[in-house]
Amino acid sequence: MDEHLTDLNPNDEEEVQEEITLRPKKLDQYIGQEKIKHEMNVYIQATKNRGEALDHVLLYGPPGLGKTTLAMIIANELEVQIHTTTGPSIDKAGDLLAMLSELQPGDVLFIDEIHRLPKNVEEVLYSAMEDFYIDIVVGQGSEAHPIHYTLPPFTLIGATTRAGQLSAPLRDRFGIVQRMNYYTNEELMQIVQRSADVLGMEIVQEGAYEIARRSRGTPRIANRLLKRVRDFAEVSGQNVIDEQIAKSSLDQLQVDSNGLDQVDRKILKMMIELYHGGPLGLKTIAANIGEEQETIEAVYEPYLMQLGFLKRTPRGRMVTQKGYDHLGIPYPQD
Ligand SMILES: Nc1ncnc2c1ncn2[C@@H]1O[C@H](COP(=O)(O)OP(=O)(O)O)[C@@H](O)[C@H]1O
Ligand SMILES: [Mg+2]
Repeated sequence: MDEHLTDLNPNDEEEVQEEITLRPKKLDQYIGQEKIKHEMNVYIQATKNRGEALDHVLLYGPPGLGKTTLAMIIANELEVQIHTTTGPSIDKAGDLLAMLSELQPGDVLFIDEIHRLPKNVEEVLYSAMEDFYIDIVVGQGSEAHPIHYTLPPFTLIGATTRAGQLSAPLRDRFGIVQRMNYYTNEELMQIVQRSADVLGMEIVQEGAYEIARRSRGTPRIANRLLKRVRDFAEVSGQNVIDEQIAKSSLDQLQVDSNGLDQVDRKILKMMIELYHGGPLGLKTIAANIGEEQETIEAVYEPYLMQLGFLKRTPRGRMVTQKGYDHLGIPYPQD
């Protein structure tokens, strides 16, 4: 199977375009995350009634759970413009100023991967967030002089897969902090049904459910699997996606009934076969699997932990009995 079924980010330009098509535009089309939706709805209505800018919002959680989508919905519901950028693409305070100077009162500035914002930029952001001004030095050498810019009130929405990497001063400046959770199979089924509808495909409920339960709790993966299953269905001359075709396609893609892919299984097997199930440090896991440490930590580990196949102990990661059971390997009794 292509490992990119579980990639951190969209795989190519085509997928980026498709994600835009599949993105719900309104809060009531956004499926799941009920607590977040309810709270955001209250904050948005209150903000609109007062005619102010919404408090800054931090969205965090594993990739593909709908952070970017939610940021866009928030701006849409507020009826303001959203300006989008990413942490690593702002490398100087001047770049940040350029972005901020385009904002109209109440607008949203969305910074994706905010944990990768350079330190010097982050420091300039503090006063912008807190009091809507920035002081920066322009010019070089003897020409250098400080400038004070006043900004319109705006809302910063930051998204990150690694909240633990944010500095305390930055984190503290977000009035609203929302942690995104994995979706239930029922919610993912609704997402698959909605996406099929948007893409003009026919799918029966059992087919949608089969895709949902193999999507590791993640809408991006659900949409991806749906498109793969459609390919299999088309090739076999079937125009309705049913349970049968969903099952056989996903089996061929080697996505198992818990949504684990080859990399997940490789992690568990490696830990069991080479290290008696752990405890093991993240570094050792990454080195043995040939994946980035960040990918293991942001993508694989949270889902294996959610399933209860892996646990974190003070001495490192360990495979649980449930993890052994899943692979059909006897759990060592000592
Ligand atoms: N709650 C949701 N309801 C419907 N579709 C969703 C939801 N969350 C995410 N999606 C879909 O999943 C895909 C990935 O979502 P995205 O917002 O890009 O995730 P993230 O920014 O967290 O990586 C998008 O195509 C989006 O339409
Ligand atoms: Mg995103």
